[in-house]
Order: sequence, then C-alpha cells, then structure tokens
Amino acid sequence: MVSTGCSGRGPHPREEKTLSPPPSGGVFLDWPGKSRARSLAEKPEKGLLELVAEKSVNPERAPHLFLEGDNLRILRLLKKEYARSISAIYIDPPYNTGTSMAYFDRYYRRQSTPRLSDAPATPPRRDDSPWLSFIYPRLILARKLLREDGVIFVSIDDRAVHHLRYLLDEIFGPENHAGTVVWRKKVVRGRGHRHLIPQTEYIVVYARSIRFLRPFSEPLSPEMISEYRLSDDRGPYKLIPLAKSGTAHSPRPNLVYPIEAPDGTMIPCPTHQWRWSQQTLLSRKDELEFRKNRRGEWVVYTRQRLYPDGQLRRKTPVSLYDRVSTTDGTRELKKLCPGAVFDFPKPARLIRDLIGWLPLPEDPGQETLVLDFFAGTCPSAQAILELNHADGGHRKFIMVQDTPVEGRTNILELGHQRIRRVLSLLGELTPHPPDGDFDNLSYRTFRLPDD
Ligand SMILES: C[S@@+](CC[C@H](N)C(=O)[O-])C[C@H]1O[C@@H](n2cnc3c(N)ncnc32)[C@H](O)[C@@H]1O
Repeated sequence: MVSTGCSGRGPHPREEKTLSPPPSGGVFLDWPGKSRARSLAEKPEKGLLELVAEKSVNPERAPHLFLEGDNLRILRLLKKEYARSISAIYIDPPYNTGTSMAYFDRYYRRQSTPRLSDAPATPPRRDDSPWLSFIYPRLILARKLLREDGVIFVSIDDRAVHHLRYLLDEIFGPENHAGTVVWRKKVVRGRGHRHLIPQTEYIVVYARSIRFLRPFSEPLSPEMISEYRLSDDRGPYKLIPLAKSGTAHSPRPNLVYPIEAPDGTMIPCPTHQWRWSQQTLLSRKDELEFRKNRRGEWVVYTRQRLYPDGQLRRKTPVSLYDRVSTTDGTRELKKLCPGAVFDFPKPARLIRDLIGWLPLPEDPGQETLVLDFFAGTCPSAQAILELNHADGGHRKFIMVQDTPVEGRTNILELGHQRIRRVLSLLGELTPHPPDGDFDNLSYRTFRLPDD
C-alpha cells in the first residue's frame, strides 16, 4: 500500500480526517478528502444545458458540441446520455502547482488565493490533496463515458505524473495502461532551474479495456516510404532479412531449421533463429526472396509491401514525441487569434497525431466521439476538424470549458474564436458540401447555468 500523506498541512477543515478504505488488492494512493471526492462523481446532476444560438455555427445539423460550464457537473450530465459512448478523451488538466488554486473548480475557487505579497520567505509545504480531490471524480466519470474500445490521453507534467498513474491504475486497472508518451515540449534551455531544466512532459494513455483497444498506427514518414524502392506486379516493396537479429533469449526450436536455396543447397540459420516458422514459410513462399551476399552466400529475405491489403502501410507510433513544441502551440494560437494571451496552449498537431493513431470505425455509420473536458483554447477541436478534413472521417468533438474567472483571460472566448477561425479557413480550402447529415464545419454551443 502506498499512503502518501500528501496533505502536508493536514486535512481540509470541510473534509474528513480519516483516510478512505483501500480498494481491494493492489497498490493505491490515499489522501484526506478522497472519499468525499469519490462521492462527487456519484452526485446526481439536476441542471439542464441551454442552447446558445449566437455562439453556434449552422446549429441545425452540427455534429460538434461546445459545452460551457463546470466540467464536473457537465460530466455528470453527459453520463446520462453518453455512458459507454465516447471513443477517445484527451485532457490537459490544470497542472498541480501545489499552491495555486486559480484553475480549480468552484469549491476550491472560493478559497482565498494567497497574494504574492503574502508569500512567506520559504515556500509552504506542498499540498497535493486539493489537486487529487479535483481530478479524481472527473477521471472516474471519464471512464464511465468511454466505450469498451475507448481510450483516454492525459497530458501531465513531471510533478504529478506519479500521482496520476496511481489514480488511473485504480480507476482503469493497471493492465489497461497502454503506455506513456514522453513529449519533448521545448528545445530551448530556459532559466530558473538549478538542477534540471524541464524539457519534457507526459501523455499517459489508458484503455477502458486493453483487449478491445484496436492497435494504434500512423502514416510512414516520406523517408520510410522512399525505402520501398523495389517493385513487382503487386507494387512497391522492400526486403527484410528473415534471420532475426540479436536477442539474449534462447532460440525457439520451431524457428531454427535449414531452408532450401534456389540452387538446391541448404541455408543454415545465420543468427540464432528465423522470424518465421517452417509452416509459415511454406504458406507464404511467394513473399520470399533469395539473394547472394558479397561472399557469395545465400541470404533469405521477405518482401514487405508498401500497400498490404491495398492500403498504404502505417507504422506503430513510438513513445517519444518531438514533432512540435509549446512554441508552436503559442505561435499557432496567436496566428488564429491575434493578441491572444494564454500560457502554453497545446499545439493542435500534437492532439491530431494522438487521435490520428486511432483507426476509424470499420462501420462508417458508427460514431467516433472525442471529448476534451479541459478544452481551454480548444486545440482539440481544431485537431478534430483538421483530421476530418484530411481523411474524410466523421469524428465529432465535445469540448467542455468553464466560464471565465473574473479578472483572468477569457479562455472560453479564445476557444470559440479558434474554432470559428478554423471553420472559416477549412471552408475556404474547400466549399465543403455537408456529407449527408454530417457537416464538419458547424457546431452547437450549450451552457450549463450556474447553480
Ligand atoms: C491546462 S488548461 C487546458 C489548455 C488547453 N489544452 C489548451 O491548449 O488551450 C486547463 C483548462 O481547463 C479549464 N478548467 C479548469 N477547471 C475547470 C472546470 N472545473 N470545468 C471546466 N473547465 C475547467 C481552465 O479554464 C483551463 O482553460
């Protein structure tokens, strides 16, 4: 059992003093306030969403939704209609700064935020319980919304990734951790760090059920495509040695056998084993190619097709992501919304790549709903609109963003502005006729009035 005692200053006066009972089996994280936080996920929600016509674009047949209000209440509402319906969730929650409450939900927002002049000479001991209590019920509800083959991507930094993993292990089950992406978010050095300059962040990925999560894939790079230089009547291909290279494992007996060369001589396995068994070799004989090396010895290859099954080959993504940085995210937002001030918006390309890893449904009639309930300036909405535009997919976004906090940047309006701008840019690229009932270039906005 891991008990963090992460509430350094003791439990919040309005929360229980005892820790919650452990879930059965496994390692778990506990903190004062956990039971109350869990119960928030179960609380019934009575509010009703109201259409905001003036913030919608072609609402009559809009597939995409923008929901304004507190995400805990909206998730509870979504549970009524969308339980087990969402294909993918991407979230970028407020990171745990340990002290600042500025982003947190209404309950925490009512607490006084320390003014800079009140700051003690030594920073107060970090208290992680408010952040944990904030995120926990939202993650519980997120799981309830996911389809059986659904997946959640959570952006997080180094300071909270360990806590987040414990929460997600508890809620989703450790076996459903599909992997963690390390995002190289900046390449410049920056100042103010005496020990390590943080250049990376994480995107933690959990399946609702790993058995049903279909394999991720992404397009080959142009360099990879250029490797398919050979060609026959079945199209371009490249050669891959059949001999399996280096591993310390002992060879599997069914993968070690001699192969007959075109001249009738026998080729012994040159490494510790082949990649294919003898049975596979016999059934896929026409995919083999024999060539002689410089020493005049036979080498066995398999032909890897650029278009297996008629579709351009794709590859499995790797866990290191360095295609775009936070600077790209800021530049992109400023271009779409001149004068926008928002710290470190995520680049739409990052989210486009993550969501693009998911295969489109085999049945085109099946909905692909993508939810972001910490939408901020809405790079996720941009990502979905652009993905649909590029591949003709019918993904539908659901953005959830809270109403603005007085005296702070109106993030909600930045999100709408970004979406409207992207809609108009995509509209200019192609005068896009609605595809049946699906009009990628339209969305509806609803607001959940305050309690
Ligand atoms: C880290 S930002 C997300 C930024 C976003 N990915 C982007 O690139 O623009 C977290 C966002 O969640 C919003 N937020 C925080 N608490 C919320 C709540 N309880 N309900 C809805 N939105 C909330 C904040 O206003 C903020 O815009």
